[in-house]
Amino acid sequence: MLELHSLSRRFGSGDTRAGLGTVSLRIDEGEIVALIGPSGCGKSTLLRLLAGLEEPSTGRALWRGHEITRTRPRHGEIGVVFQEPRLLPWFTVRQNVRFGLGPKPQPGEEPLVDEVLERVGLTRFAAAMPKELSGGMAQRVGIARALVSRPSLVLLDEPFSALDALNRLRLQNHFLTLWEGTGRTLLLVTHDIDEALLFASRILVLSGSPGEIVADYRIALPRPRVRTDASFQHWKERLLADLGLAEVHPFADHVPLI
Ligand SMILES: Nc1ncnc2c1ncn2[C@@H]1O[C@H](COP(=O)(O)OP(=O)(O)O)[C@@H](O)[C@H]1O
Ligand SMILES: [Mg+2]
Repeated sequence: MLELHSLSRRFGSGDTRAGLGTVSLRIDEGEIVALIGPSGCGKSTLLRLLAGLEEPSTGRALWRGHEITRTRPRHGEIGVVFQEPRLLPWFTVRQNVRFGLGPKPQPGEEPLVDEVLERVGLTRFAAAMPKELSGGMAQRVGIARALVSRPSLVLLDEPFSALDALNRLRLQNHFLTLWEGTGRTLLLVTHDIDEALLFASRILVLSGSPGEIVADYRIALPRPRVRTDASFQHWKERLLADLGLAEVHPFADHVPLI
């Protein structure tokens, strides 16, 4: 279980205070949770706290009963995929993925690198350098690096938003296929309502500055999700209304919240 107890992170002071407001919540193992909210409401800050990259101003976060801190991030147990792949340019694809196993991979872990490369369809590019890759391929390397240690919790920060529309659809579908049946826990930050509805068993809406959770929904739509289904559209309108966008683009096909 992931537990957040009055977790917050503030930057600045007085009227200029921003960051993440006070958040308390529990996420069960196996849940796929999407966290949506407008730009600047603290989504990345929340993810960085859970990745042990940031120290909270108040409260604490625990994964499987162990507190996550900067000095004790749960490396290996928690994988992170950022908006941009952040590959090391002087490492090959394979070396970048291997990096996800930490500084001293055990000999028995080597096969995991090849296995995950296969799963993201990059076996043929194992020896390539990052500069030789397309944006979609580079992001798949980032995903492989996060998954190689078989983390029980995966945090994704708008991982598909830098891709063009077609590649975004491809990689979303690919990722969902990878995820199926793993029983792992996923927290996906996105400002894209369609993406949240494609993935999530639960959607949290974060709003305000500093942001707080204003809605928490169970999404029981059958899988695979179909964007054109009436129930999908119903949820979409509801989420747009929560974000104060219902009247702005009621018939838009794809509404990013930027
Ligand atoms: N290191 C930082 N120093 C100062 N302000 C920050 C820092 N990181 C984030 N912020 C501010 O906190 C707010 C939330 O940022 P962020 O979590 O990146 O939002 P989101 O990911 O939802 O767009 C923003 O106003 C941002 O400017
Ligand atoms: Mg962000």
